[in-house]
Amino acid sequence: MTAYLSVDVGTSAVKAALVDAEQAVLAVAEAPLAISRPHPLWSEQDPDDWWAAVSQALDDIARQRPGDMARVAGVGLSGQMHGAVLLGADDRPLRPAMLWNDGRAEQVARRLGLEHPELASVVGVAPMPGFTGPKIPWLARREPHVLERLRTVLLPKDYVRLKLTGERITDMSDAAGTWWLDQRRRRWSPEAAAATGLPASALPALVEGSAPAGALRADCARRWGLPAGVVVAGGGGDAAAGAVGIGAIGDGDAFLSLGTSGQLFVAGSRYRPAPEAAVHAFCHALPGRWFQMGAMLNGASCLAFASALLGVGIDALLAAAEAEPPGAGGLVFLPYLAGERTPHNDPHARGVLFGLTPSTSPGAVARAVLEGVAYSFADAQAALAGSGTRISQAGVIGGGARSRLWVRILASVLDVPLARFAGGERGPAFGAARLARLAATGEAPGEVCAAPQPIDVTEPDPEWRERYRGETQRFRALYRALRPHFQQAPEGA
Ligand code: XUL
Repeated sequence: MTAYLSVDVGTSAVKAALVDAEQAVLAVAEAPLAISRPHPLWSEQDPDDWWAAVSQALDDIARQRPGDMARVAGVGLSGQMHGAVLLGADDRPLRPAMLWNDGRAEQVARRLGLEHPELASVVGVAPMPGFTGPKIPWLARREPHVLERLRTVLLPKDYVRLKLTGERITDMSDAAGTWWLDQRRRRWSPEAAAATGLPASALPALVEGSAPAGALRADCARRWGLPAGVVVAGGGGDAAAGAVGIGAIGDGDAFLSLGTSGQLFVAGSRYRPAPEAAVHAFCHALPGRWFQMGAMLNGASCLAFASALLGVGIDALLAAAEAEPPGAGGLVFLPYLAGERTPHNDPHARGVLFGLTPSTSPGAVARAVLEGVAYSFADAQAALAGSGTRISQAGVIGGGARSRLWVRILASVLDVPLARFAGGERGPAFGAARLARLAATGEAPGEVCAAPQPIDVTEPDPEWRERYRGETQRFRALYRALRPHFQQAPEGA
C-alpha cells in the first residue's frame, strides 16, 4: 500500500512519521534537539543539528519499515515557525538560526511598529521580536558582516527541504510567520521586506502547503530506501500542520496546542487581522483558508522546567498536582519564562511563582504551573473574543494533552469542552503527512483532512470553573502589577 512520510522540525525534537493510505501511522521516530542561549534573550539552534536529527529519525523509520519506505508517494514537512536561517551564496548557514522564542530584536520590533503602523494588518500581526523580519535590522546593527553575505533566508523546515531537494521554497503558512507575507493576497509584501531592509531576492519561492515543492534527491532516496524524485510537499508551519492533522480547516474549527509553546488556533475561510490584541492572522496551509491564533511562548515547556527544577519526574509531579485543590493553595504561576506574545507582546516578561509559604509542596507548585499556563490560554481566548471570534468547543493536541488533569484544568478555565485525539501529540507530523498526500494525489483537502475520532471529550468541571474565574483575574492583576518591573529588570534576570 502507498505510504506518506513526514518530518516535523520541532524545537525540542525532530519527529518523523510514516502514514499509510488508510491514514494509519505505521512508524514514528524522534531525535532530540537542544537550544543554545548564549546571551540573555537569545535562542538559537544550528541548522545542521536539525539535519542530523532528521537523518537520525529517518534512519530509524527506514530500519522499522524498509518495505513501506519503498512505497512512499510523498514527503511532507512541518516545523517551528518564525526562525531565521541565514544562508550565504553557497547555501551554507552564515550563523546559528535565530528562533521563534528569541527576544533580542525587541527594540527593532518596537520601532517597526511605530514607523510602519499600516503594515500590521497586511502581514497579519504587529511586529514582535521572535518573527523573522525584525531579526534583519538587528543583524544590520550588530552583525553587518552576516547581512552583507546573506543570499537567502529560510524557515527551519525549509532548510531541511533544501537538504532533501536542493530547492529554496517555503509554504504560505510558514511564510505567514515571517512578518513579510501579504496574508490577504498570499504573496510576499515588498513594503514589509523593505521596511526590515531585506532585499526581495533573499526571499524563497512561495507555494501552497498542499502543492508540490521539490523532488527528493537521489542520494537521500538511496540512504532511506525511498523512491528517487518522490514529491516533497510545501508543508506547513507547525501550527497550521497540526491543524491539518486534526481536521481544523473549516470555519470556526478550533484547537489548543500544548507543545514547547502554546497556541489557541481557529481556522476560517476569511483573512481576519486583529493586530491590536497581538492576535496572529495567518494563511493556512491549504489554499483559500486562513486562521487566527493566540501564540504563547510557554506551554508544556513550563512543566518540563518545573520537573527539572524540583528534581521530580513529570509523571510523579502530575500525580502530586492531582492531589492538590484547584487554586493550588493560593499559589499563582506566571508562565512567561521566555517572555510572551499574545496578548502582551512582552519579551521582558518572566516566570513568577507568587504566594509561597513554608508549607508549599512540590505538588502545589506543579498544580500552579498547570493552572498558570491555562490562564495564559484564557488571555488568548479573550484576545480572540475581542476580535469577534468565540470558541464553543476545541481539540487539544501536543505533548501536554497526555495529561488528563491538565486538559480538565484547561476545559474549566476556558469553559469549553476539549476533545483529545489518538496520537494527538504527534499533530504536526501527521498533518504534514496529509499535505504530502494532497501534493502527490491532488485529492480535495476535505476528503483527506477529516477530524479523527476523539478518544475523549472533557467537559468543564462546574466547581473548578467558578473557582478559576476568580483565579484568572488574580493572574491578570499580578502580570499588570509586575509589568513595569519586568521592563526594568537587568538583562538576564
Ligand atoms: C507559533 C510559534 C510556535 C513555534 C514553535 O507562532 O511561535 O508555535 O512555531 O512551535
